[in-house]
Amino acid sequence: MPTILVTGANRGLGLEFVRQYAADGDRVIAACRTPVKADALVAIAAASGGRVTVHPLDVTEEGSVAAFKSVLGDQPLDIVIANAGTYGGARQDWDDMDFDAWARTLAVNLMAPMRLAGITHRNLAAHGGKFIAITSGMGSNANAGGGMHAYRTSKAGLNKLVSTLAQDWRSDGIVAVPISPGWVKTDMGGPDAPLSPAQSVGAMRKVIAGLILAQSGKLFDYDGAALAW
Ligand SMILES: NC(=O)c1ccc[n+]([C@@H]2O[C@H](COP(=O)([O-])OP(=O)(O)OC[C@H]3O[C@@H](n4cnc5c(N)ncnc54)[C@H](OP(=O)(O)O)[C@@H]3O)[C@@H](O)[C@H]2O)c1
Repeated sequence: MPTILVTGANRGLGLEFVRQYAADGDRVIAACRTPVKADALVAIAAASGGRVTVHPLDVTEEGSVAAFKSVLGDQPLDIVIANAGTYGGARQDWDDMDFDAWARTLAVNLMAPMRLAGITHRNLAAHGGKFIAITSGMGSNANAGGGMHAYRTSKAGLNKLVSTLAQDWRSDGIVAVPISPGWVKTDMGGPDAPLSPAQSVGAMRKVIAGLILAQSGKLFDYDGAALAW
């Protein structure tokens, strides 16, 4: 039975990843900041016969990450999904930048996936697992829009981080890729987004299932198309 780890699992895309992998009969380690408030996630776990477990994890807090690592132990992981993310706040224009909010955005979107990589490398190496970072088209040079500097730079940095990890981990047989989910109806994406979480996650899961080591370090859109750096 494959084991999948998902961060930011209490709502949005993270919750949908848990829902779909659980429905397929997989084992899911679901991490979120506040499990006592994660009603939808806890309900999925309660109905899973013990296959889905819920754990506290603030991806930016060293102590929280260390405690989560001790829960993980050395169990093999097939897929790790670094999904937790933040949009970066209201003031992120060139002439009106909240630098503290930018630092927090980098901590969540860029540095936290590195923390997660550090604590899951050995688990992934057990039998050639996959490290998936949920990035954004807004971090790609194919997206010509301006503004949103904090968010765009965090995701562009994430893409570089994961492509570098792919090189570091190739000899361990671990695939590492950033995947953009498209524009999706979640708290972050808003109601006007064209994709539902079920559509986006369903498509990303197909891409993830088909990944081979030769594709490690490439940048993908949710439907498997190559995304420009
Ligand atoms: N929706 C879109 O259109 C879209 C487009 C491109 C990329 N993305 C990316 O997709 C991923 C998921 O986004 P979403 O649309 O599902 O957003 P969302 O509905 O706003 O959910 C964000 C998730 O990240 C978690 N999170 C934030 N900071 C955290 C921290 N410090 N520690 C642990 N968890 C934290 C949130 O937990 P709390 O509930 O505790 O805040 C929540 O579970 C993000 O990386 C986002 O950048 C989304």
